[in-house]
Amino acid sequence: MALDIGCGSGAYLEMLGQAARRVVGIEPSKGMLRLAAKRTPAWCQLVRAYSRSLPVATSAADLCMSARSLSHESDLHRAVREVARVLRPMSGRWIVADVHAAHRYCCTTIPAEDKCVPIETYKRAIDDIVEVARANALVLESQAVLSVADLDWIPPDLAAHGIEGLDDPTPIFYVLAFRRGAAPPRRN
Ligand SMILES: C[S@@+](CC[C@H](N)C(=O)[O-])C[C@H]1O[C@@H](n2cnc3c(N)ncnc32)[C@H](O)[C@@H]1O
Repeated sequence: MALDIGCGSGAYLEMLGQAARRVVGIEPSKGMLRLAAKRTPAWCQLVRAYSRSLPVATSAADLCMSARSLSHESDLHRAVREVARVLRPMSGRWIVADVHAAHRYCCTTIPAEDKCVPIETYKRAIDDIVEVARANALVLESQAVLSVADLDWIPPDLAAHGIEGLDDPTPIFYVLAFRRGAAPPRRN
């Protein structure tokens, strides 16, 4: 099973179907879920929930993806603990791609009722995420920091927030890949 945590309008759900037999898009915004339902194939499931409380059984997921959604979660510790809980020990993977703290981008808007509203963005240092992940048995396998020169396409809302040109070296995104290690020993 693959989870797209904070799936938004569901841009990656079909692609995740190439990696897993069951794909679940998890998203707290009703407006985003409505958009996702329009493009999502029938074999994908959409569920309304936050990263910090995943409605998924322990050790049931092979892959979790958080694409520009972890930065909208207020409770990093709970969100990481939840990912570690649902991932299959020793093989489950978590991919996190998000806006780099150095980028000037400051907020995302999502559809609500008849207008778009901004949502809170929590810019976090890569080291802080890695440290919380390590404390939850998530082993960092690879990391990349990307600037505009590394990308073929940038989301328009990021482009509108101060990218100086194609040779601007300011980091825009980071991508982290973790593997779920062994379950930590139980404390009595
Ligand atoms: C910038 S959009 C990214 C959507 C999608 N992952 C993509 O890359 O196209 C951020 C999404 O995270 C969702 N979100 C906000 N807070 C969240 C939370 N605490 N847990 C999970 N998703 C959240 C928003 O509703 C929004 O759909």
